[in-house]
Amino acid sequence: MKLGVCTGGGDCAGLNAVLRSLVLCARTNGDTTLIGIEEGINGLASDPPRHRVLYSPAGGGIDEFTIENLLNLGGTLLTTSNAGNPFRDPQTAVSFKKSVAKGYKVLGIDGLIVVGGDGTHCIAAELADVGVKLIGIPKTIDNDFVDSELAVGFSSAVDVASEAIMQVNTSGTSHGRIMVVEVMGRHAGYIALNAGIAAGADMILLPERPFSREKMVEHLRVQALSRKNHALVVCAEGAHARGEPLKYRSSTSGSRHLGGVGDDVATFLHEALGRVTRCTVLGHTQRGSRPVSMDRILAARFATRAMRLAREKRYGSMVVLKKGEVEVTSYPEPRSRGGSAARSLDPADPTIVSAQDMGIYCGENP
Ligand code: F6P
Repeated sequence: MKLGVCTGGGDCAGLNAVLRSLVLCARTNGDTTLIGIEEGINGLASDPPRHRVLYSPAGGGIDEFTIENLLNLGGTLLTTSNAGNPFRDPQTAVSFKKSVAKGYKVLGIDGLIVVGGDGTHCIAAELADVGVKLIGIPKTIDNDFVDSELAVGFSSAVDVASEAIMQVNTSGTSHGRIMVVEVMGRHAGYIALNAGIAAGADMILLPERPFSREKMVEHLRVQALSRKNHALVVCAEGAHARGEPLKYRSSTSGSRHLGGVGDDVATFLHEALGRVTRCTVLGHTQRGSRPVSMDRILAARFATRAMRLAREKRYGSMVVLKKGEVEVTSYPEPRSRGGSAARSLDPADPTIVSAQDMGIYCGENP
């Protein structure tokens, strides 16, 4: 069997651990060649396809030192891309499909393991039409992949974020300031909620629960600043005040990115409360750490199941985590058929209730 693997979308901790587990499985199987496709699916669309042999029974794969060190290394050996969707434009869609089909044939692979988030899997799903046989593994720091309670990368991102937030808070306590920390997550508040609780935030602003500016001020006054000289606010990049639009930043690539709500909240709180405020945007630090053990374990559990599915020729499937167990669901539908593989927090999620029970303001019911 000859299998391809690619990592698509934003990088995160744990991708290399997935690759290493697949290499170990291929080596144990004995008869499996594993080809790594570079820069997500784009590598397959290049002529010639950009790839590297990760393992081959005939020799020539990555060396032992690299295999060992992948377990603990952030980023992705295969490189990745989260820019552009070739299926937005019907003409590019046709040529992209053709190029991928050609690359797939040239490499002679029997199937492709795609490690990605909602965007990557919905793009890859379009390729089933041209004979690409897919098996998916969810990864995203945002943890917003539908059907899977956990995705590779999330636990590490929460760890980085909570550590950083606690460090910011040390400064807040020393200077008697209101510290606002903006974290990633797209339109889902999983990172903010979990890192906020882990770091002892007074207020956690989530995309799923619009905040009230008045209640925010009142809450900080009564619950935090009446008892201590500082306060800690964790704010998801997709959070917004009730009735107000999301905040975006423009990027050098011309596209716009969620972000800026942290600064807005800090300025607002300074004006409303007359206190010194500071905003820290954690940004890509949340993607760049080495994987925590939880992610290394999840990578192993997902990769081994994906490899078994490939051996059983159960293509068109996705490994997910449900109630702590690895399960198999069908591969997401492409966007052109209305597919979306993204999910968000239930505004009444038990973890939000826990936060509220501890007196943390988490915005309003939508
Ligand atoms: O989806 C992962 C993510 O890190 C989001 O949390 C964030 O909004 C986005 O990617 C940032 O993307 P980029 O790498 O293009 O800056």
